[in-house]
Amino acid sequence: MIDFKNKSVIITGSARGIGKAIAMKFAELGGKIVITDMNEEATKATAEELKSKGFTAIAVPCNVTNDEQALALIETTQKEFGSVDVLINNAGITKDGLLMRMKKEQWDAVINVNLNGVFNTTQAAIKYMMKQKSGSIINLTSIVGIYGNAGQTNYSASKAGVIGFTKSCAMEFASRGIRVNAIAPGFIETDMTAAIPENIKEGMTKAIYLGRTGQPSDIANAAAFLASDAASYITGITLEVSGGGFKTGGGH
Ligand code: NAI
Repeated sequence: MIDFKNKSVIITGSARGIGKAIAMKFAELGGKIVITDMNEEATKATAEELKSKGFTAIAVPCNVTNDEQALALIETTQKEFGSVDVLINNAGITKDGLLMRMKKEQWDAVINVNLNGVFNTTQAAIKYMMKQKSGSIINLTSIVGIYGNAGQTNYSASKAGVIGFTKSCAMEFASRGIRVNAIAPGFIETDMTAAIPENIKEGMTKAIYLGRTGQPSDIANAAAFLASDAASYITGITLEVSGGGFKTGGGH
């Protein structure tokens, strides 16, 4: 039976979407939840929502691209909950465009949030996990980081970077009882994918082997498994949660 009783669980970008669904799942499983997002108001609102359901949660607004804020996030978690047990690096953005027309700012922004952000929070958290000799880190990558996708060179590069980072961290910290894994979602219905035009979405859905788009709860279930003792012999992997992927290849 999976449970996170007495465990602190930090989920970056958890004010909405997949992050929020992960937060809700871990709260249901007894975790002490740190809602953190760059959107300060939404961070507080989501934490309040959890508390109103009787769960333990705090709101710590943080932009993961800022290393001082990332450090403060981890220090606050330690202070409030007494340990840093689970870190889920979920915050991410897209700024799509064909490479020929991609602006340097589009490239930098995506690498900065999706890759540098993961570095910032992980480096801050690992210090505490090393001392505890326990911990679990889950990084949100994407099937695009594995297979690529036209129009997403910046995003796929950032997500491929996350996979490499995950594998190397797993090797560096295994002897300290810290596991590091990644989840590669396919097409998941959130605000991020809401911007995709309806006709394209329809075509993409038809191309998914399991015949449906994914829900944030599909990712939350995978995260709960990977972070739990049920996965205690699993580290360094990238778990694809994508309905079998696209018959056409690629993805989002
Ligand atoms: P979303 O756009 O609905 O939510 C992302 C959250 O991250 C937002 O609340 C946003 O404020 C926050 N955020 C953005 N930049 C931040 C920063 N610098 N610091 C702190 N918070 C920041 O996105 P969604 O769909 O929930 O995605 C979550 C993760 O899953 C992302 O890493 C995304 O790349 C990944 N993913 C999503 C897929 C999908 O189909 N929705 C597919 C594959 C991966």
